Amino acid sequence: MDENIFPKVDDYLINLFSLEDNVLKRARKSIKENEMPEISVSANQGQFLFLLAKICNAKRIIEIGALGGYSTIWLARALDEKGKLTSIELEPKHAEVAKENIARAGLSDKVEILVGDALKILPKLVKDKISANLIFIDAEKTQYVSYFDYALKLAKKGTVIIADNVIREGKILEENSSDEMVIGAKKYNEMLSKNDKVITSIIQQVGKKAYDGMAISIVK
Ligand code: DHB
Ligand code: MG
Repeated sequence: MDENIFPKVDDYLINLFSLEDNVLKRARKSIKENEMPEISVSANQGQFLFLLAKICNAKRIIEIGALGGYSTIWLARALDEKGKLTSIELEPKHAEVAKENIARAGLSDKVEILVGDALKILPKLVKDKISANLIFIDAEKTQYVSYFDYALKLAKKGTVIIADNVIREGKILEENSSDEMVIGAKKYNEMLSKNDKVITSIIQQVGKKAYDGMAISIVK
């Protein structure tokens, strides 16, 4: 099978469902213009995150890794008027771009971007007794297990915890990978397989981005 079919089908679906409006297109453009890594979720993945947030009727969302705010916009659009999203971003420049994109999306009232290391900020959210319905993990791949430990502390029964990039082009099959991101993804998946606090489904994803996948867990 010709793998060129995957981005073509992704584009077909994005067009069929008119998934990327001007705000999202502009957000993607600003990420490129600011020479940030072009690793935001695809529009189809964005719609998938939006749908998951709708399914769990999310009122409070936490995102770990905002980058330029592309996935942030998708998730925040699933919230009702009273909903709130907190996104943590390590890079101040990325956070600025994210804030601009969120402002253009008219979502500044619902979204706060906290700048700094998630492993320093998450304990503060725990201390503030923040409780989220949906947590999206998409930051430093080597820290996924630590993020998850905090996610559980910020979760309640039914909270959905989603982690991006857990398949890494199938490299998670390699026994002795030296790729830190692959090692991080493997550790995360193995941890989930043994964790009796959550039920997990890991899906492989193809499309415009490199072949990868998301882990979707629900807290029991
Ligand atoms: C990378 C990170 C991501 O979050 C992603 O979705 C794709 C790639 C990366 O750092 O390579
Ligand atoms: Mg990602």
